[in-house]
Amino acid sequence: MKIPLAGVIGCPVGHSRSPILHGTWLRQYGLAGHYVPLHVEADDLADMLRAMPRMGFVGANVTVPHKEAALALADDVTETARRIGAANTLTFGADGRIQADNTDAYGFMANLRQNAPGWQPSGGPALVLGAGGAARAVIVALQDAGVPQIYLTNRTTARADALAAEFGVNTLPWQDRERLLPQMACLVNTTSLGMRGQPDLEIDLTTLPASALVTDIVYAPLKTPLLAQARAQGCAVVDGLGMLLHQAVPGFERWFGTRPEVTDALRAAVLA
Ligand code: ATR
Repeated sequence: MKIPLAGVIGCPVGHSRSPILHGTWLRQYGLAGHYVPLHVEADDLADMLRAMPRMGFVGANVTVPHKEAALALADDVTETARRIGAANTLTFGADGRIQADNTDAYGFMANLRQNAPGWQPSGGPALVLGAGGAARAVIVALQDAGVPQIYLTNRTTARADALAAEFGVNTLPWQDRERLLPQMACLVNTTSLGMRGQPDLEIDLTTLPASALVTDIVYAPLKTPLLAQARAQGCAVVDGLGMLLHQAVPGFERWFGTRPEVTDALRAAVLA
């Protein structure tokens, strides 16, 4: 029997935590399989994807900067990947066909369900900060979970307006980002602000109800200044590491045949 191979395709790819994550699961469940980092230049992506099934690959994750190109190169695209406009999980059929999916929206919501079980998506509006690729996945997740109203705010107004038109959500000027906090049941940071080496996100959460949930897709550091401020105010907070871990679950299950669990031990292994 051939040992199934999977990997993460990026450029650069050395920083990716996915090999540690999948490697931990393969060992934990005693499965035959390998998961490797694959540094692939943009010009080589199409050839690489066509060659991979013949080399024994059953699937791959895709990271920056190839997520949009991988979607365009796929033979079959899930509805979720189409809406997000990017692929992060590819599965190769026995016939070599490439199926593209995006599990970031699933990962985002699974993280909240695991770590903020008291939060009801239908319980009130959400404010999303940022309008990049991560914001697209978060909006899809919030819409599918039944969040009644979504507000989007971004430093570059045109990007927020374009996303708002595409997804039918509301916008708020970046300089007014605190204005609707009293009505919000959920606040999501999808910007890179607060990430190690980046400026902090400047926002005063004083008027945000203590019943609101605050989550950050940033996970380095785990406790961003945003989450520290929210916690001090009594809000439920969820860090971004769980999204990274949960988004990997559907791919691992498809490729290696076992649905893996996201545990504290896995968090520790990925952070080590
Ligand atoms: P990703 O695909 O990971 O979401 P991205 O497309 O580069 O990454 O988006 C990064 C987000 O962080 C954007 O919303 C960006 O705002 P702009 O659209 O105005 O660039 C936001 N961001 C990055 N640095 C920022 C800063 N100093 N102040 C405000 N927003 C910032």
